[in-house]
Amino acid sequence: MSVDLSTTLCGIRLPNPTVLASGVLGLSYEVMARVARSGAGAVTTKSCSIRPRPGHHNPTILQWEAGLINAVGLSNPGIEVMVEEIRAAKALLASLGVPLIASIFADTIYDFGTAARFISEAQPDLIEVNISCPNVDAQYLQMFAADPYVAAQVTRRVKLNTDIPVLIKLSPNVTNVVEIARTVAEAGADGITAINSLGPGIILDIETRRPVLAHGTGGVSGPSIRPIAVRCVRDICRAVDVPVLAVGGVTTGRDVIEMILVGATAVGIGSAVAYRGIGVFQEACDEIQAYLERHRYKSLDELRGKALAFL
Ligand code: FUM
Repeated sequence: MSVDLSTTLCGIRLPNPTVLASGVLGLSYEVMARVARSGAGAVTTKSCSIRPRPGHHNPTILQWEAGLINAVGLSNPGIEVMVEEIRAAKALLASLGVPLIASIFADTIYDFGTAARFISEAQPDLIEVNISCPNVDAQYLQMFAADPYVAAQVTRRVKLNTDIPVLIKLSPNVTNVVEIARTVAEAGADGITAINSLGPGIILDIETRRPVLAHGTGGVSGPSIRPIAVRCVRDICRAVDVPVLAVGGVTTGRDVIEMILVGATAVGIGSAVAYRGIGVFQEACDEIQAYLERHRYKSLDELRGKALAFL
């Protein structure tokens, strides 16, 4: 039986629903192309800002029993460098039919617009706006996703500065994620990415009696947060008409299917690249294909949202 794994996110066709999530392997064009050749349906860059950022001191990432904890601190070489990387990556990805999503962030509402304008010069297929990094020190950089009014302002400013479809990346670390999703959709977001990492959390080295991360706290990701991500995606898919790119602890094809069942259009895989390696995208696709065949579905469209009636 022939099964169609393709999906369309904000008008952009993905050959399959798996997406390299932002923050993992998305800095150089060679690596982005490797991820695409390994079977990802789309590739998201690491988040970049107008100016380069060194990020936090090491150690910045730790693998623990139930996932990862990280406080990378949004390190990146700046948009000028990323525009060149994205141009080069796009040329390679286009031949594979794999779209590229450029992730941006900024320190002010105004600068989000400027970042969107600069990154658009590289013509990514989609722009993801990271307003939800949990590793920012509140006095220097707001978590814009925490306030519906601010999140909507960022969305409007970005939309004013680009014609490329825009995904706004939301945080689970808020009281009412649905309210934020609704306001960014009303402000013009073409789609929503949900969720960023959970927390921040703390893991201590009890021998030294200090936190293992130099920053002290960090965002929690991996399998331990997947049920929370599924619930957020379900809530958002019910509340808004724009498509959702679901992210959060997805490790297998089974986890991708779970996100599609609650309404996701495409599904990001991030931390799992650390556990399963770069082959995770093809493996997940094989698992999805086997599931669709077993249940006699011909496409993901037939499956999407099927669990919502029971939730
Ligand atoms: O610390 C970091 O770079 C994390 C970014 C994010 O979760 O968006």
